[in-house]
Order: sequence, then structure tokens, then C-alpha cells
Amino acid sequence: MLGRVKELIAEVEEFKAKKVVHIEEFRIKFLGKKGIMNDLFREFKNVEPALKKEFGQLLNELKAKTQEKIDSAKEDLESSDDAKSVFGDLTRPAEPLDLGSRHPISIVRNRIVEIFNRIGFVVSEGPEIEDDWHNFTALNLPEYHPARDMQDTFFVQTNPDELLRTHTSSVQVRYMEDHKPPIRTISPGRVFRNEAISARAHCIFHQVEGLYIDENVSFADLKQTLMYFSKELFGKSKIRLRPSYFPFTEPSAEVDIYWGLETETDYRITKGTGWLEIGGCGMVDPNVLKNANIDAEKYSGFAFGFGVERIAMLLYQIGDIRHFFENDVRFLEQFKADLK
Ligand code: PHE
Repeated sequence: MLGRVKELIAEVEEFKAKKVVHIEEFRIKFLGKKGIMNDLFREFKNVEPALKKEFGQLLNELKAKTQEKIDSAKEDLESSDDAKSVFGDLTRPAEPLDLGSRHPISIVRNRIVEIFNRIGFVVSEGPEIEDDWHNFTALNLPEYHPARDMQDTFFVQTNPDELLRTHTSSVQVRYMEDHKPPIRTISPGRVFRNEAISARAHCIFHQVEGLYIDENVSFADLKQTLMYFSKELFGKSKIRLRPSYFPFTEPSAEVDIYWGLETETDYRITKGTGWLEIGGCGMVDPNVLKNANIDAEKYSGFAFGFGVERIAMLLYQIGDIRHFFENDVRFLEQFKADLK
């Protein structure tokens, strides 16, 4: 046994490598999992007790020499020309790393969230699969209310109490149930409506909805907040509120911003009017406050909701909403400059 180990030590000392693969073969042969070294260590227990000490020392010597040999052989090769063909020029600059980019919907969502954070709104989130109470009933939309038709709903299987939320107003109901006024929150999130998919509409899209409840909140506060938002996001503070109807707000309005008519694209996206609708808003209906156990005599509030895709289409001049969901890298790559 001892003699065999000595032979192996001699073999290691003589080893020379011309190529990197030879070093690797050598390493596997001696130090690999099923290599000589492990075999020998396993043999150790069969060695006569009197020889154990010497055998052990020889094994350690063999192991150390093998490692030394591998290191020195590698060093020799790397400094020779031959190595260049394997490693290439080790001083060359590295390949540039391909940077990823945020999805345009995330970029716009983050910008909107930032703008409202600055005036004290906190983000709230809730489940995408909702119950009837939070998506409809608590929002003053009782069963059989005709306004439910405004939001074609996807139900989960046949259970009418399990549905995909049609707006993130549901999150605001949850927030009101868990928090006392003053409340200032925005709820960004994905929503679902059973609509035919086209260049302008999709059955999945994103909203950012806002809610502000305190004493003496007025319509003027709502208007001021929307003007601030429009100025921060679009650089345009001229807005228009058109009377509208939502069951959860009274009075309700649709929010238009004045986009202008400078270019041909402006004419196209504003249909020649210069005005562009970006969302809905209104004063929270007292019934909604009552449903969330908030004293409607003492408190009032406003709410608003924007479609994120719609705003992203405006900001980036994207003509077809379907681009957002196809995840074509050629489309997504264009947003690299906007890493926020
Ligand atoms: N929830 C409404 C929608 O999805 C938008 C909205 C929010 C309108 C808040 C008014 C107030 O259409």
C-alpha cells in the first residue's frame, strides 16, 4: 500500500500539461469525487495500525503535491501563448451587460404614486379576486342596480360572490373599514372587465384610484388636487370637469385635461378638440361612508380614478393598448431610458 502511494507521488511530480483540459483530467483523476485520493482515504481503515501514521502522512503529502501541481501547471499555461486560444486575451474589456427595462405600465404607475406621495397619500393594495360587498354593494351599487352594467364583470366559476375586481375602488372600501379619517390613500392595481379586446380596450388593465376623507373636504379640494396632478404628470394644469354619473360619488365628474393642438398627433388623440379624458372623480356618496362605518355628518371626501394604460398611451404616444400585454421585447426595449 505504502509503495503504491509513493508511486503516485512520483507520478504527480512528473506530470506536465500542454492544455487546460489535461489539467482538468488530472484534477479529476486525483481529486475528483471518484478519484484516487478518495479511494485511498477509504482504504485508510484497512491499513495495519502500525502503518497508519506513515500512510496518513503520505496521503497528505500526495494531496498537497497534487494541488500544488495543478496550481503551478495552470500558472505555466496561462503565461504561455497556448492559453490565449483557451482564455482569449485576459486583459480585454468585458462584454457589456444587457440592461433590462421596466414595463411602461410600471413606470407610469410609479410616477403617479410618487406624485401623490408628495402630498401625503399612502399606497393601499387589496385582492384581485373580490367579493360582491367590496366591489359593488358597499359602493352604493346594490344587487340589480342598473349601473352594475357599466362594468361587465368576470365571475369566478358560478359563485356570484367571487369575482375579479372591476376597479380598485374595492381597495378603498377595505381601507375605510380598517382606518379612521383623516384618510389619504391611492390604490394602484390590476382590474378586469369582460370587454372585447381592441386597440383601445382590453379585458385586463390598470387603475390608480385615490380617496381623501376628512372634515370639510370640498369639491374645490378635489379640483385643486387634480390640477396639481395634471401639472406634475403632463406639465399641463388646464383641466375640465364634465358632469357625469358614478353610483359611489355625488356629484360626479369626468376629468379632461387640455392637451393642446400643436401637432398632427394631438389632433388625432384628442379627436380635434384638444381635450382628453383621463378618468372619473367626485365627492364620496354619504352612503359609501356609512357602509364603511364613517360618520357621514362629520366627514366628507373625494375620490378619483385613472386608467394607467390610457395615460401611458398618451405619454409615450402608443397607438394600441394590446402592446402592453404582448411583452414583445422590441416594444419593451424602448423604455430603457426610463428606469424608474
Ligand atoms: N371606479 C370608477 C371606474 O372604475 C372610477 C372612479 C373612481 C370614478 C372614483 C369616480 C370616483 O370607472
